[in-house]
Amino acid sequence: MFLLVVTFIGHAQTRDSLALTPPMGWNTYNTFAGNFNEKLIRDMVDLLVSTGMKDAGYTYVIIDDNWTGPRDSLGFLTVDRSRFPAGLAPLSEYIHAKGLKLGLYSDAGYKTCGGYNASRGHEFQDALLFARLGADYLKYDWCNTDNINAIGAYTTMRDALIATRRPMVFSMCEWGNNKPWVWGKGIGNLWRTTGDITACWDCIDDHGGQYNSYGVMKILDMQDTLRAYAGPGHWNDPDMLEVGNGSLTEIESRAHFSIWCMLAAPLIAGNDLRTMSKSTLDILTNKEVVAIDQDSLGVQGFKQSTPDSIQTWYKPLKGGNWAVCFFNRGSKSATLKHDWKNNVIHDAVAIVDLNCGQHVYRIRNLWTKKELGSTATVLEATLSSHDVLMLRLQK
Ligand code: GLA
Repeated sequence: MFLLVVTFIGHAQTRDSLALTPPMGWNTYNTFAGNFNEKLIRDMVDLLVSTGMKDAGYTYVIIDDNWTGPRDSLGFLTVDRSRFPAGLAPLSEYIHAKGLKLGLYSDAGYKTCGGYNASRGHEFQDALLFARLGADYLKYDWCNTDNINAIGAYTTMRDALIATRRPMVFSMCEWGNNKPWVWGKGIGNLWRTTGDITACWDCIDDHGGQYNSYGVMKILDMQDTLRAYAGPGHWNDPDMLEVGNGSLTEIESRAHFSIWCMLAAPLIAGNDLRTMSKSTLDILTNKEVVAIDQDSLGVQGFKQSTPDSIQTWYKPLKGGNWAVCFFNRGSKSATLKHDWKNNVIHDAVAIVDLNCGQHVYRIRNLWTKKELGSTATVLEATLSSHDVLMLRLQK
């Protein structure tokens, strides 16, 4: 019995070690859906390097749905030759030669959401193929799964990945249908908590009554109550970034990114790197903000609402430091007056307190990259509609 327990814990720790901080990368889906080929992905790889995104931590290049062809006579998936004339191996080599990592996509049903061949009944064979192709990450979707059991389906693929002996981060894309946060630790490294994100602030896109996708604020409001389930190696995934996409303004992109970092969310960019503006790049590559997401304590942040539409988000960091993000959700500018000493914050999950009566913290504004005094004085600021004031409190 003792041995069994030790074996189980050891196993879970090994899986966790694949993503001790939330995974970062770039994925084809949000901008390109099925409109990509080898040339486009090579361009993105080059841009990840030349723009500094790789340097900021965006490591995984994830080829989402629409890459698989028919199965061959032995049952192995082939690669869609119209997109990848030479197969995936040369692209995989290219990605690795640039110091980046390859992510692939499959689905627990017979077909992917886009109607391409998927892994049901071929889990071990497909995992072997992903390993042979040099994959370092698998996103595993939930379309066309009929009534199969989610824990069973994701455990089978987890075991298939382990059997390959190639470390692959396992991203469970089950949309939160079966509460994966409750059972996902030890199976996946991240799990989607909702349906798909879409590039608007607060809309719902109805796809002909089939399914909905959700704007950034709609997704955010579905994250309440989940934070206790996240930690190093196993993260809640509120879906990929829409920074610089669709109808989001620069201010809204900055707020979206800030809050995803406060949530310790995976940071998977989904914009066209060939046409991104300087402000989009500056948002995605602000290393001090990324560092909040990637903090090794691995605690998901939480919000406290305050008057005048300004929410206050807190995230404890390693070494007794904190990130604090004031966020104006309202449609008008709002004024903030925050007396640190009179706002003692208790984090019941991480079991730590922010008590500025006991400690004075130095404050750094992470977007202007300027020092902002200390918690000894009352903070006053005006926030435009949808804007954030994101701070690091340093002991
Ligand atoms: C689902 C997933 C998306 C994307 C598409 C691809 O909708 O949730 O993230 O992978 O499938 O078809």
